[in-house]
Amino acid sequence: MILVTGATGNVGRHLVGELLCADAKVRALTRDPATARLPGEAEVARTDEMPLDGVTSMFLNPAVFWTGLGDALERARDHGVRRIVMLSSSAALDDDPRNAIGAHHLEIERAIEATGLEWTFVRPGEFATNALAWAASIRAGEPVREPYARARSAPIHERDIAAVAARALLSDGLVGAKPVLSGPEALTHPEMVEIIGAAAGIPARFEEISPEQAREEMLSRPYMREGIVDALLRVRAEAVDRDVEISPEVERITGRPARTFAEWAADHF
Ligand SMILES: NC(=O)c1ccc[n+]([C@@H]2O[C@H](COP(=O)([O-])OP(=O)(O)OC[C@H]3O[C@@H](n4cnc5c(N)ncnc54)[C@H](OP(=O)(O)O)[C@@H]3O)[C@@H](O)[C@H]2O)c1
Repeated sequence: MILVTGATGNVGRHLVGELLCADAKVRALTRDPATARLPGEAEVARTDEMPLDGVTSMFLNPAVFWTGLGDALERARDHGVRRIVMLSSSAALDDDPRNAIGAHHLEIERAIEATGLEWTFVRPGEFATNALAWAASIRAGEPVREPYARARSAPIHERDIAAVAARALLSDGLVGAKPVLSGPEALTHPEMVEIIGAAAGIPARFEEISPEQAREEMLSRPYMREGIVDALLRVRAEAVDRDVEISPEVERITGRPARTFAEWAADHF
């Protein structure tokens, strides 16, 4: 039995589908089974109960474990779970404690390593799904307002992250690996907005704002801590006019090329 935490999430929902397609037994966790719309073939359970009987491998999404990670890991080990595949982040490559995002993921990776269980740390960069935050503005005909128009990144489709996680859960080839994942092309946010506009068949505009304006706006959102906001802005500032490393790992691990941002936009707009 494979336990998927955050099963309704961007990655978790596709992962549940991939695992069921491979005929694996899946227990999918959500805080609210009644509204989760998870497939009938999966066993659905509540996150706060986290039933572990029969579970051999577990997909761990940090978004679920803002608290209680230590207890969850101890319970997993005590119940005979053998493998943990964690949704980490490429930010974990940066071991600078001022990088709050990297430090958060490294702390979790280290706690998992300390269990002595088998592990894989899947380390994606920027999720293409972050661009869903622009959907309301684009659909309303308003500009997407962001800082650092010349910063480039290689956004990754959530399906590709799920496909890699599925391999790590279903086969032994990624035990002890920390694959860094990216999409197949480097894009600026204005280019991404244009691609979304083309997919949606509506004109979409980008307007550059100052980092200070962006910081203020981000801090007004719930759950956005200062350290995280500053780390996110630092990543964008450092990416201005920089070459972006394109990772070959999605294709190497799954046997199919990473999906483009245009494919992602067509799936969502
Ligand atoms: N966004 C990026 O660019 C990026 C880049 C690299 C790594 N990451 C990593 O990916 C993670 C996000 O993954 P994702 O997009 O797949 O997840 P997600 O969609 O944000 O959330 C996963 C699921 O977790 C549950 N959840 C959310 N908040 C919770 C809470 N406070 N307590 C318990 N459960 C909670 C929700 O399920 P229910 O409502 O059904 O319970 C949600 O569907 C980040 O936390 C980060 O670690 C993100």
